Amino acid sequence: MQRLADRLRSTGKRIGVVPTMGYLHEGHLSLIRIAKKNADIVITTDFVNPTQFAPQEDFSTYPRDLPRDARLAEGAGSDVLFTPDTHAMYPENYLTFLDVEQIADVLEGKARPAHFRGVVTVVAKLFNITKPHVAVFGQKDAQQAILVKQMVRDLNFDIDVIIGPIVRESDGLAMSSRNVYLSSSERADATVLFQSLISAEESIRKGERQCGNIIKQMHDVISARYTAHVEYVSIADSLTLREYSQLNPGMHVLVSLAVRVGRTRLIDNILVSVP
Ligand code: PAJ
Repeated sequence: MQRLADRLRSTGKRIGVVPTMGYLHEGHLSLIRIAKKNADIVITTDFVNPTQFAPQEDFSTYPRDLPRDARLAEGAGSDVLFTPDTHAMYPENYLTFLDVEQIADVLEGKARPAHFRGVVTVVAKLFNITKPHVAVFGQKDAQQAILVKQMVRDLNFDIDVIIGPIVRESDGLAMSSRNVYLSSSERADATVLFQSLISAEESIRKGERQCGNIIKQMHDVISARYTAHVEYVSIADSLTLREYSQLNPGMHVLVSLAVRVGRTRLIDNILVSVP
């Protein structure tokens, strides 16, 4: 792959990369289309990265379907599907990991310690392997997007990072490879993530400024569903991820949450500008 990337670069081609863990859906494909608009050659990486899963998490059961991914990626405009095997990425003597400080320790990082260490490490490796001019990530994983941008700045990667908007099902559920885990009743309850985000946005628009009230309202919306259990709800600065207790006009906030629906952990978020 590195030799191919070298060849493409030497012929003046602009390379775009879309890192994924596969089991592609419309959210991933939207990022491939954005990459295609911003590059000559799009490389989609498809690798379920073991280092970002904790031992009790779903690494072994994470859905996989490479032939389908290849078809879908190509249909969306991807030129190369890079599917390294685990041993090639992490040989036996592998010892190096990256840590982004502070912003990796809150929200998802607090709930899933070591998760972002695995994410930024594999993303850095994928950047070095695919040598992109531009990389596209999704707003669905808002904190991941912020961390990748920080790493690119801090480590002087010469890469433009583009963040694509969240693609949702018609009832608002954010697309996710993990949605296949949901039973039909859980699938129905899972719409509550987006509904609670919309309720928060509406409250803020109507003038609510106390984050405690907004968060309580979100908890109430979610706990009305039998299979849904809140892991966290947060209202934080959209860049620093510092949590707010009180909002002021002009603030840009990330309202984000993690909810267990049955045994499936789902995340979602919305960006709100405080009027
Ligand atoms: P994965 O969950 O497969 O997501 C790959 C990319 O697709 C991420 O940038 C994610 O934010 C984006 N994405 C997922 N669902 C989306 C949706 N509904 N709308 C828009 N974009 C969406 O995120 C990862 O993999 C991994 O952590 C990875 C970065 C590949 C490192 O292993």
